[in-house]
Amino acid sequence: MAERHAQLSFDGKEYELPIVEPTIGNAGINIAKLRATSGDVTYDPGFANSAGARSTITYIDGAAGVLQHRGYAIEDLAANASFLEIAYLLLRGKLPTQTELDDWADEVRMHTLLNEEMKRFFDAFPKSAHPMAILSSATNAISTFYEEYHDPTDAAAFDESAVRLLAKMPTIAAWAYKKSIGMPYIYPRNDLNYVENFLHMMFAAPTASYEVDPVIAKAVNVLFVLHADHEQNCSTATVRGVGSSQANLFASVGAGIDALWGPLHGGANQRVIEMLQTIVDDPDATAKSVIARAKDPNDPFRLMGFGHRVYKNYDPRARVLRSYADDVLAAVGIKDPLFDIAKELEQAALEDDYFIERKLFPNVDFYSGLIFRALDFPTRMFTVLFAIGRLPGWMSQWKEMTEDPDTRIMRPRQIYVGDINKAYVPIEDR
Ligand code: CMC
Repeated sequence: MAERHAQLSFDGKEYELPIVEPTIGNAGINIAKLRATSGDVTYDPGFANSAGARSTITYIDGAAGVLQHRGYAIEDLAANASFLEIAYLLLRGKLPTQTELDDWADEVRMHTLLNEEMKRFFDAFPKSAHPMAILSSATNAISTFYEEYHDPTDAAAFDESAVRLLAKMPTIAAWAYKKSIGMPYIYPRNDLNYVENFLHMMFAAPTASYEVDPVIAKAVNVLFVLHADHEQNCSTATVRGVGSSQANLFASVGAGIDALWGPLHGGANQRVIEMLQTIVDDPDATAKSVIARAKDPNDPFRLMGFGHRVYKNYDPRARVLRSYADDVLAAVGIKDPLFDIAKELEQAALEDDYFIERKLFPNVDFYSGLIFRALDFPTRMFTVLFAIGRLPGWMSQWKEMTEDPDTRIMRPRQIYVGDINKAYVPIEDR
């Protein structure tokens, strides 16, 4: 195909901008040299219309509600893949053979323990500490034990760090929870698989034996797989941005965890449940009154778990979770009034002109919390579960970023609109 260009006409001058061609989806108008040739920059708050990278990891068609990792549909992966399998797919670029997967699982298993000194680190947090704060702090803290792997240009060091982070994240998450309920930390068990081991560390106590329920293990696996990557979302862009300064993988992932915590991103799964609970608790609240609040331009309230920067259709992950939630609730024998409210709220929103015009549909966070809740996870752990799931995505995007010859330190421009050239006024004259 002949090389394509876009023409930009501005202030009486013409600029020819090269096109970065995709395999599928939107092309990119390359404006990298625009400032050098014109003196001006582009303006795009939230980078809603800017591609910061070329990527081979995840493809989304937001209008059609399509999500694929390395070319495989999310629906197929959720139905068939184990979490470590999808982590391998994202990090290594291909589905593993059985031997490769077994070796990979063994490698991860070897690193599930935290350095014993980390216990004191957990002890130092107040009991009320949000587990996302502990998760991000502990991720940074464990970097201090592995400083020999910090060189971002060393591919072998990346592999070592990635396996360690994958192995230790469930241990950190479970210990953050044990800390919050004042219970002893439970050590990993290497005879269990990745998800079973996490459930064991979360829910076992030293005083009794704990059998992992296969229904719960399967559900957590599906949830982790559904969260594994989502191209250039806020936390992934953060991981790439921090990594672009050549900060180490642990520090970059720690920053990603912080970005995920926000209620407009991964923190939404906690907020959805809190929102549904207020409807149950308040006799005057109905699905309609909540929708009315969400539509009110003078009320900052938003319908949590609704809307998405990229999907202008039903989020395919939410579609999987909606039908899966019915199965899980039935399997664990729970009838949750919040689930009924959620379905009522969804229907009311999908029939409302405000939501129809703006193409606002349920996103992954709308139903994930209801399943986590049915599986007995406390609400404040929901975003931590999202983080464990998203970890392979963050790390594969970090790796792709460090290997891309186009990568430069992330350093956006601005358009200055403040005062200039003011004379300093001594403090006594102000
Ligand atoms: N409730 C009510 N109105 C909404 C909502 C919502 N949940 N989401 C978007 N809108 C409105 C918004 O007010 C705007 O209206 P108008 O054009 O009249 O100003 C319009 O829809 C477009 O919204 P936007 O804020 O420009 O969209 P965005 O792409 O900047 O934001 C979002 C995307 C996900 C932050 C936003 O939809 C939102 O705040 N949703 C609620 C929080 C949430 O569920 N977050 C989870 C996102 S998915 C998983 C993840 O990334 O973690």
